[in-house]
Amino acid sequence: MKTKIGGYQDIPLAASLIKKGEIVAFPTETVYGLGASAYCDTAISKIFTAKGRPQDNPLIVHLADIFALTQVARDIPQLAYDLLDNFSPGPLTLILHKNATVSPLVTAGLDTVAVRIPSHNMALELIRQSGLPLCAPSANTSSRVSPTTAAHVYEDMQGKISLILDGGSCEVGVESTVLDLTSPKAAILRPGKITPSMLLPFLKVSVDTPQGESAKSPGTKYRHYAPLAKVALANSPKEAQELYNDFYEGKAIIIGSKDFVEKCGNGISLGKDSPEIASNLYATLRVAEKEYDYLIIEKLADCEENAALINRIMHAAG
Ligand code: TXA
Ligand code: MG
Repeated sequence: MKTKIGGYQDIPLAASLIKKGEIVAFPTETVYGLGASAYCDTAISKIFTAKGRPQDNPLIVHLADIFALTQVARDIPQLAYDLLDNFSPGPLTLILHKNATVSPLVTAGLDTVAVRIPSHNMALELIRQSGLPLCAPSANTSSRVSPTTAAHVYEDMQGKISLILDGGSCEVGVESTVLDLTSPKAAILRPGKITPSMLLPFLKVSVDTPQGESAKSPGTKYRHYAPLAKVALANSPKEAQELYNDFYEGKAIIIGSKDFVEKCGNGISLGKDSPEIASNLYATLRVAEKEYDYLIIEKLADCEENAALINRIMHAAG
């Protein structure tokens, strides 16, 4: 299959492919997604095949607006509307009770469904023109680093899908915050740009991101975001330099914040603050893993703004 990279003028083509039961990659503000109709089992199966994704890992359903919630969820609490009113379109995914029309393939047999309203115009326009809720995981091969450009998607999906919509680099750069509203106590299952403090005016959340079989979010038990090179974490510039000297023969590179890399005297800077680091992280990992055998990555300060980054970097480190 030939894989075309298209632009805004190709949204009608993308929508017609979706309606015919095909899968299409599209940009969101977080990472690129691989979309299919949430009502079409054949199309959903194609997502799992193209990614090599385990069947027991459920997908997020992407909607264009709050009015579409009832297409996929039932018994929706007022809190869900309040949260989406405030944070959507944007990088917040809610776990709600699923309604009967959503395929069990989307939810991996769970009776809950993950929903979000992405803020990228191309994503919203694709959902509107398809007239369907779109289930979409990140558009990478399973266990690889998530894609933040159309070229990253091409790298992983070339020959496996017919169309990638190119909407530029993803602004946020790490996946959405996943918030479970179906348990007695609301919990963040995956940290993202929307932090517990930002949610606090609406509710108090716990952060529940255990790894392994006990994970409430099935996806978190798999090794995500794994670069091809070996990853070592460094607590300080001094430690990074020591690791660098040890691994240099095997081709190592230091990766960290601007300040950290400057103190090391060499390396790749991800940016000056958390938002900049998030938007550059995956693209940098994809480049660095091809050129180096060892990635020495800064262990970022343990604060709320860094929670999503630390979570992804720890996954990368295995
Ligand atoms: O930013 C994002 O969320 C991106 C873009 C494309 O929207 N999508 C994304 O999808 O990251 P994916 O499939 O790579 O990650 C979805 C996560 C997985 O960890 C999955 O286990 C969890 O959401 N999830 C999905 N449905 C769930 C459910 N019903 N209950 C608990 N966790 C769920
Ligand atoms: Mg993913």
